[in-house]
Amino acid sequence: LNYRVPRTRKEIYETLIKGLQRLEYRGYDSAGVAIDGNNNEDKERFIKLVKKRGKVKALEEELYKQDDLDSKTDFETHFGIAHTRWATHGAPSAINSHPQRSDKGNEFVVIHNGIITNYKDLRKFLESKGYEFESETDTETIPKLIKYMYDNRESEDTSFSALVERVIQQLEGAFALVFKSIHYPGEAVATRRGSPLLIGVRSKYKLSTEQIPVLYRTCNIENVKNICNSRMKRLDSSTCLHAVGDKAVEFFFASDASAIIEHTNRVIFLEDDDIAAVTDGKLSIHRLERSASDDPSRAIQTLQMELQQIMKGNFSAFMQKEIFEQPESVVNTMRGRVNFESSTVLLGGLKDHLKEIRRCRRLIIIGCGTSYHAAVATRQVLEELTELPVMVELASDFLDRNTPVFRDDVCFFISQSGETADTLMALRYCKERRALTVGITNTVGSSISRETDCGVHINAGPEIGVASTKAYTSQFVSLVMFGLMMSEDRISLQKRRQEIISGLKSLPEMIKEVLSLDEKIHDLALELYKQRSLLVMGRGYNYATCLEGALKIKEITYMHSEGILAGELKHGPLALIDKQMPVIMVIMKDPCFTKCQNALQQVTARQGRPIILCSKEDTESSKFAYKTIELPHTVDCLQGVLSVIPLQLLSFHLAVLRGYDVDFPRNLAKSVTVE
Ligand code: G6P
Repeated sequence: LNYRVPRTRKEIYETLIKGLQRLEYRGYDSAGVAIDGNNNEDKERFIKLVKKRGKVKALEEELYKQDDLDSKTDFETHFGIAHTRWATHGAPSAINSHPQRSDKGNEFVVIHNGIITNYKDLRKFLESKGYEFESETDTETIPKLIKYMYDNRESEDTSFSALVERVIQQLEGAFALVFKSIHYPGEAVATRRGSPLLIGVRSKYKLSTEQIPVLYRTCNIENVKNICNSRMKRLDSSTCLHAVGDKAVEFFFASDASAIIEHTNRVIFLEDDDIAAVTDGKLSIHRLERSASDDPSRAIQTLQMELQQIMKGNFSAFMQKEIFEQPESVVNTMRGRVNFESSTVLLGGLKDHLKEIRRCRRLIIIGCGTSYHAAVATRQVLEELTELPVMVELASDFLDRNTPVFRDDVCFFISQSGETADTLMALRYCKERRALTVGITNTVGSSISRETDCGVHINAGPEIGVASTKAYTSQFVSLVMFGLMMSEDRISLQKRRQEIISGLKSLPEMIKEVLSLDEKIHDLALELYKQRSLLVMGRGYNYATCLEGALKIKEITYMHSEGILAGELKHGPLALIDKQMPVIMVIMKDPCFTKCQNALQQVTARQGRPIILCSKEDTESSKFAYKTIELPHTVDCLQGVLSVIPLQLLSFHLAVLRGYDVDFPRNLAKSVTVE
């Protein structure tokens, strides 16, 4: 938003489009902008919306096609918004992309990152008030809700930020939001909860302050109505930020510093439930209640980072960033689905088919690579909770065998991208045989999510590193949630369900604890990186960890690596063991513990020097270990979410030490769309 900084329409477009391009690395499927009418006078009359499915380039071309950019009109004040979308609700399309609007007249437009989990209730309410929805998004409820608040305001004076304040009290889930309205020309309001949002400030003039005090409004439910209809407390220079002497200043709202760093490195990071408003070139921040941090002000910080660094945060590769995102990505997978209070799980995408699934002959879970491993990892708990036979299949092999499939089978297709050719063909094969098909993908609108009868979106966020990491743990959690939903009314399983649900609740904290072992794992990588081979051995719930760990090592370090089922040790792999061969053993305190101890004895008796991934409290295994990596203990069927992480980290460090490009390993593609 520029204030007293004359900008041409072309400059405004360029700033918005460049900002979107800086975010392209995150992955997206559509993009859109909202700008004011053609000149300063038009501003109060209309907002122009341009949205496009596909690349930012396509949006840019559309903008330039539609507009006469030679007109030299300068905007003294102009507030434009732009967004790239990665679908969570509703397929990628122009209509579903953002900005979303309140009505055909574009009175209020909103861009949103995050997920509104109670959008169905809000939509029902708004539809009962006569609002007509045009998209399938959760976001569309927000501009409609603010218009509803505006139309029902009790005072003409109600400020834009007061309306937003009222809106966010109705929202559940995660969001970073930026609002624009024809009723408040040249004003911007932004807010966040759970999703990041920052404000960049640029001015040639000295700024009035480096610390913006936060305005609090103590609130209880009864007086919310009054508050929201009251004007915001009158601002004075100590409660807002502006350029000294009311001079020119520009504000940039962004979910990520990379989008704005070329304009300014001076930024304010908003906290959850902060409402930031710019009116007449003055930025103020207020909130209903004191913040959790209790910091009474927000400081302007100076970022020292390079653009590349900002995109990846402090990480050297996307894969590393994605490994470290797992405490949040598993929360996003569970958000709005697991109710920890009532111990219930609701997967909205499956609920209408639940009866049919419960009646089926067997479950068949099909995938490739890492996605297949997520099926292997959860097979046992699914057998236990659904009390159904569960087959897990590699898509290519499933097709090669012309596997018999019947109409009372339920077939799951797991795929991060939703586009893997083998998985897609297996899906079509099962559809022809009239089985019920279920998609588990990370990409809404992908072929697999479109062609299946129903499904679950894992909500892990875009994954860029070719070697899959956070998608695996989110697929894992999604399948466990499915098992929990299936067993809701099985009295004999309640204790077990309760135990698993508590395990899910503490999972994010435990993942953080595992991630704190990073340095230790780096030291281990220093010892191993010149080796040619690495075996990973385990059984039971952790067999999948071995397969997945070995796959990560193969994919990015180009070392030979094998995931070995410890139960098969005597039937061949034992011949590989000697003093030199590096062996990682995954031994957890679960029903296979004693059997794993036998395998450990067999390895050490052949002078093997095992590196053991074990539970913190396990003193038995560590006695025989060459090295140990100790993990927090969780319920047996979730332990695999934790035990895979040290192997993700190890493969990453090995690849870096061996000098390879972690994110783009040779010969591999993120999405394999050919057979
Ligand atoms: C490729 C990728 C793997 C991925 C597999 C399945 O091989 O390199 O990382 O696990 O495809 O992909 P999907 O998108 O179906 O999960």
